Amino acid sequence: MRLRSLLFVPGDRPERMVKAAQLEADALILDLEDAVAPENKPRARAAVAAFLHEPRRVAVFVRINPLESGLAEDDLAAVQSAAPDGIVLPKAEGAASLARLDGMLSDGTRILPIASETAAAIFTLGTYGGVTQRLCGLTWGAEDLPAAIGAATAREADGSYTAPYQVARALVLFGAHAAGVPAIETVYPDFRDLDGLAAYAARGRRDGFTGMMAIHPSQVPVINAAFTPSADEIAHARRIVEAFAENPGAGTLQLDGRMIDAPHLKAAQALLTLAAE
Ligand code: COA
Ligand code: MG
Repeated sequence: MRLRSLLFVPGDRPERMVKAAQLEADALILDLEDAVAPENKPRARAAVAAFLHEPRRVAVFVRINPLESGLAEDDLAAVQSAAPDGIVLPKAEGAASLARLDGMLSDGTRILPIASETAAAIFTLGTYGGVTQRLCGLTWGAEDLPAAIGAATAREADGSYTAPYQVARALVLFGAHAAGVPAIETVYPDFRDLDGLAAYAARGRRDGFTGMMAIHPSQVPVINAAFTPSADEIAHARRIVEAFAENPGAGTLQLDGRMIDAPHLKAAQALLTLAAE
């Protein structure tokens, strides 16, 4: 499953689900958690289930409420027979949360945890590997953690993350790769600032994220472009692979006056795999 862009749609907005499915997002995340007021949860569950029962051409995830909320069981009961492609698990706390949700699912439904939303979660970020084949990525959030620890904000005046949230982001990035699954960047809330989004997504890709969540239709093409290798990148990667193919047994070579060795070859091969998807 290719996951460059994952677009959130509130679970109580069925007309937006229909619109969202016509966009180029790789996946939708129908939200039953923070985007839906408590009194609307039953209506949202019904709307999400109805949408899932229609034929679909896009992967559909459902963000359930946290396992500890007392709402998750009803969320799953409402949507499971409609076979969502995946469940997004908010406030996840490592292997224990993953194993618990795994035990509540029956079919081939995948799991995408939001792995940085509580203080305790930060200390579990290395534990996601080897628990279940359902794990299809790891993502993070910069909104709930500051609220959980009484921080005023996660951001500097220029929009960049303060030090604690740079740490959280980096640990999720390494946690995902340690578990062998894609790292998915968090949302860019200022949905009218598409230049800022492009720069943010480019930094994510540079750092090792391979996809990103979106909140608004206008963000989807920007995110898809940012996480799709460009023609120049593909050409450069091919040259690296060819250089090693032409020099069997060589550990280190030069390309355009720069040293290339095993990590460059590995990165080039990974980029070509991404481009082929
Ligand atoms: N999915 C599908 N369609 C969406 C959409 C979404 N997430 N967000 C906006 N749209 C549609 C609107 O319905 C509108 O369609 P129309 O032109 O046919 O009327 C169009 O895009 C423009 O919307 P706009 O007026 O720019 O936005 P808004 O002020 O109505 O909504 C948000 C802004 C943030 C409330 C909305 O984008 C949204 O609900 N995003 C998802 C929020 C969410 O799920 N958050 C939880 C995780 S962080
Ligand atoms: Mg939240």
